[in-house]
Amino acid sequence: MTTTRIRGMKGVDKITMLTSYDYTLARLADESGVEILLVGDSASNIVCGNQYTLPITVDEMIFLTKGVVRAAQHALVVVDMPFGSYQVNDDEAVRNAIRMIKESGADAVKLEGGREVADAIRRMVVAGVPVCGHLGLTPQSVNQFGGYGLRAKEEAEAEKLIADAKLLDAAGCFCIVLEKIPAALAERVTKAVSCPTIGIGAGAGTDGQVLVLHDMLGLNEGFKPKFLRQFAHLAEPIHQAVGDYVKAVKDASFPSAEESY
Ligand code: KIV
Repeated sequence: MTTTRIRGMKGVDKITMLTSYDYTLARLADESGVEILLVGDSASNIVCGNQYTLPITVDEMIFLTKGVVRAAQHALVVVDMPFGSYQVNDDEAVRNAIRMIKESGADAVKLEGGREVADAIRRMVVAGVPVCGHLGLTPQSVNQFGGYGLRAKEEAEAEKLIADAKLLDAAGCFCIVLEKIPAALAERVTKAVSCPTIGIGAGAGTDGQVLVLHDMLGLNEGFKPKFLRQFAHLAEPIHQAVGDYVKAVKDASFPSAEESY
């Protein structure tokens, strides 16, 4: 999969993106036909157990991405630039983007924000780094917004988001993630830009969809926002299997003679 093919899917075929943070699940997702594997900074929550995405570092993102890259036979691998790696100035942003591509082997980077990151994105693209934008709910700004509520409900904010999307498109983003905004606005953005939009909590009118793999597999039983469909309920069989293992070791039924050398 290439960024050119992803661009070409706009208006032709819906684009599928899922997060991935390790070799084994990335291999299964890749074999199952997903087109983009996103090593999201949600790894900070899902892998590291942090409350926010803010603490994860460039080095940690590179470490995780290497495993996903080894697994990806078909999918495009996109790595999230973590908080602090692109906000200080454009030079540092471009340097970190190049470093993340060089050291992780990912095909593209993703970063959050609109007009404030457009110049940095333009320079990354010129340097040969494909970029996926991210607008709407941008979890790295959680302290600024004070939560994870729906974004751009008011027309003024919606107009600003559309203008930001046009700037990211003009800066050369090969796609833009739209997170947690009204479906009607996501449709307006999708029509306003030439690159594909990929929604999460943004309705059906975007060019593609993205979900956090662990959430859609039902591994986080307690996390059930309205936009999330759990395509499996894997927490239950895992609890069952681990419980069965503990019991079998305790009652000495594992390992059996057949399972011994
Ligand atoms: O980090 C992440 O998982 C993301 C997706 C929610 C798009 O940015």
